[in-house]
Amino acid sequence: MSPWVERHRPKYFSEVKGQDEAIYKIRRFLEEFNSEKSKKAIVLHGSPGIGKTTIAHVIAKETDSELFELNASDFRDKKRLEEILKPAIEQKSLLNKNKIILVDEVDGISSTDRGGLPELLSLIETSTFPILITANDIWDSKLSPLRKKSELIQLKEIDYKTIKDVLIWILRKEKHFIDNEVLTKIAIQAKGDLRAAINDLQTISEMQDSSKVTFDERNKEVDIFNAMKLIFKGRATESTLKLFDSVNMSIDEIILWIEENIPMEYSGKELARAYELLSKTDLFKGRIYKQQYWRFLVYENIFLSYGISSVKKNAKTGFTTYKRPTRILKIWMNNQRTAKKKSIAIKYAEYCHIAQKRAMKEFPIIKQIINSNPSISKELKLDNEELEYLRG
Ligand SMILES: Nc1ncnc2c1ncn2[C@@H]1O[C@H](COP(=O)(O)OP(=O)(O)O)[C@@H](O)[C@H]1O
Ligand SMILES: [Mg+2]
Repeated sequence: MSPWVERHRPKYFSEVKGQDEAIYKIRRFLEEFNSEKSKKAIVLHGSPGIGKTTIAHVIAKETDSELFELNASDFRDKKRLEEILKPAIEQKSLLNKNKIILVDEVDGISSTDRGGLPELLSLIETSTFPILITANDIWDSKLSPLRKKSELIQLKEIDYKTIKDVLIWILRKEKHFIDNEVLTKIAIQAKGDLRAAINDLQTISEMQDSSKVTFDERNKEVDIFNAMKLIFKGRATESTLKLFDSVNMSIDEIILWIEENIPMEYSGKELARAYELLSKTDLFKGRIYKQQYWRFLVYENIFLSYGISSVKKNAKTGFTTYKRPTRILKIWMNNQRTAKKKSIAIKYAEYCHIAQKRAMKEFPIIKQIINSNPSISKELKLDNEELEYLRG
């Protein structure tokens, strides 16, 4: 199934929500554009999922302009830029339309000589067409020369009521129904990121019974054995959903426990279905890590608890001794640790211009250095998990 964020990407101004002011300014900029203007580029900036890319495309469509797209890596390939792209940029549109040049996600550009930013700046100098640039973080210091050469337009994060309106609009088109309270929660959790909200909406809609989704306070602590019992033996109910909230264990470990114990309880069709669900969870996790949609973890949790539990037709009786997933767990935890160590070593090696191998070998010392110099860990842009690894 195609992602809803693509299927429902706005095509007209009227479908873009919450960005009226920005759209007004961009239209005015384009109307007043002439190639003698001192600033020939606009940077649309703001956090992810608020409509930067969408607006660029909608503007082109609604002003009947041809959109010529360049990305950060095009500026690195000087030959391609000079021979193919620049001539195309400088030509008038074949259909005699207006032309707009789009440089999407300029954050990826590098300010060094070979990195592309100087090329972009010189394009802005010479272009006879308006240039739209999008950026997540225009205040990054490397982008300072770009800031001086362009008009900045900040896009707002979308307030939760507007997000909810968009969600309802999409559900209507999809002929789906989701409980109002759940919609409100998705909208609030998205924290202004409409893309995230729509992705969450799709996930929830694909669940069997989305009216059951609630994210309430924690139960009392139930240990993992007890949780296994409730999942595998009990009937799936609303409280099954919240089961893992009260188990003091990471979701990755819980997955291993479930995986280990599925064959203890299920067989035949139930077994197959449970594994299928589990593999979906895994895929899902890949997506979470790759796109850093940490809030998705809530829903992954739901697949694992309610999903796995509802695989069986009837509640089960009897006593089962659930197994600890020791072997896999150890391998997994070890891999996790090595991965962290490696990612820190790579950053450090780059920072100090030493070989990665050496950084790995001297890791105990490097660890001390970083730990005793907070400014270094900042400089290295270590994420929370890496910092935790260093502290441990
Ligand atoms: N202001 C908005 N109005 C309507 N839909 C939006 C808006 N912003 C984002 N979206 C939805 O989120 C998706 C991603 O938006 P996109 O423009 O790619 O975000 P950005 O480029 O700011 O990261 C779009 O396909 C659309 O479905
Ligand atoms: Mg974008």
